[in-house]
Amino acid sequence: MEWIILIMGTIGHVGLWCVVFNRVHATAFPRKLRKFSEKAILVIVFAPLFWTFYLIIRIPGNSFADVISLPLIKYYFYGSVGLGFLFVVRWIYRKVFFKLPSNVLSSKTERLNLKKELASPLLHGRIPKLLGLFPFNEALLLTRQRMTIEVDMPPALDGLKICQLSDLHFTGEVDIRYFQRVVEEANQFQPDLVVVTGDLVDNAKCIEWIPETFGKLIAPLGVFYVLGNHDRRITSETFLRNSIHDAGLIQASSKWHQVKFNGANIQITGNALPWYRDAEQLSDQPDNQSGLSILLSHSPDQIDWARRRNFQLMFAGHTHGGQIAFPIIGPVVAPSKYGVGYSSGTFKFGNLIMHVSRGLSGDETIRWGSPPELGLFTLRSNQQ
Ligand SMILES: [Fe+2]
Repeated sequence: MEWIILIMGTIGHVGLWCVVFNRVHATAFPRKLRKFSEKAILVIVFAPLFWTFYLIIRIPGNSFADVISLPLIKYYFYGSVGLGFLFVVRWIYRKVFFKLPSNVLSSKTERLNLKKELASPLLHGRIPKLLGLFPFNEALLLTRQRMTIEVDMPPALDGLKICQLSDLHFTGEVDIRYFQRVVEEANQFQPDLVVVTGDLVDNAKCIEWIPETFGKLIAPLGVFYVLGNHDRRITSETFLRNSIHDAGLIQASSKWHQVKFNGANIQITGNALPWYRDAEQLSDQPDNQSGLSILLSHSPDQIDWARRRNFQLMFAGHTHGGQIAFPIIGPVVAPSKYGVGYSSGTFKFGNLIMHVSRGLSGDETIRWGSPPELGLFTLRSNQQ
């Protein structure tokens, strides 16, 4: 019994700090503050554990039960036990009741081991190379995710193919050849439209990669993008945006874009809140809009914004599928106000379908249970 209480207390304690971590990283707080909070949370997570062991060792005859009966520790410990039970109940609820929306008519995943295929090292720098040696690291295991989705849209748009790339994070730690290969795969899908949902370039030195990567994407209706929180690391936003523009990409945020497919209208816009505030100036789409409205959002946290404006499709990234998904438990860390609720996958809210990509790379070159994702979505009209 003592062990069960100890385990639930640990789940509650660690879970509470994961909740704080996820919410802090969903904000536009300055990077230094978020980095400081990361370290503070790490210390707080381990401090009670070390403190308990310290008290047990220091005072002869002290047992675990003696330590947790100390005034402040007692209240925190039993609070954590209560939270632990709540987390477990919520986790079981999600596991049992989560269902892929019935709008997902088919889903097919293929894996490409680019680490093997591209032979010479793709990771640069001491830490990325070290992480690359970790067993089962999936950071370079590209998955091609093909989905057919039924959408509330005119029959003329039936068969429209959209390719999503997200979170490429050009840091210089992953070789440009990885991203060139991703672009080749995207072009092999022969999409009508490409959407890029943020976190393109982390390191200013990699801006020169843009023409050879994003610049090679081909789609007759255009390649649209929004920036993400990591793009703010580039000091000159204008220089970054100009480089992306010169490579032929279209900035989705700040206005409504209209394209036509088989004579039917498609409205596209973007939202990179809370990091870029363009979307706040955007007018609502007219109530009598026809066709299909697509939102590119860096974060899935803008789901309520999308619902209020009657989008039918929303593409997001940012959360990287948690980047590490434990067996059975799944991911525990995702920078979202919804925690890991929308860390990756397809979700339905009324007429709105949201797909959250696991992204293609990351700040840290480690992934377990959450391989990089390149998505192709073939749309089917429900108005046939
Ligand atoms: Fe990202």
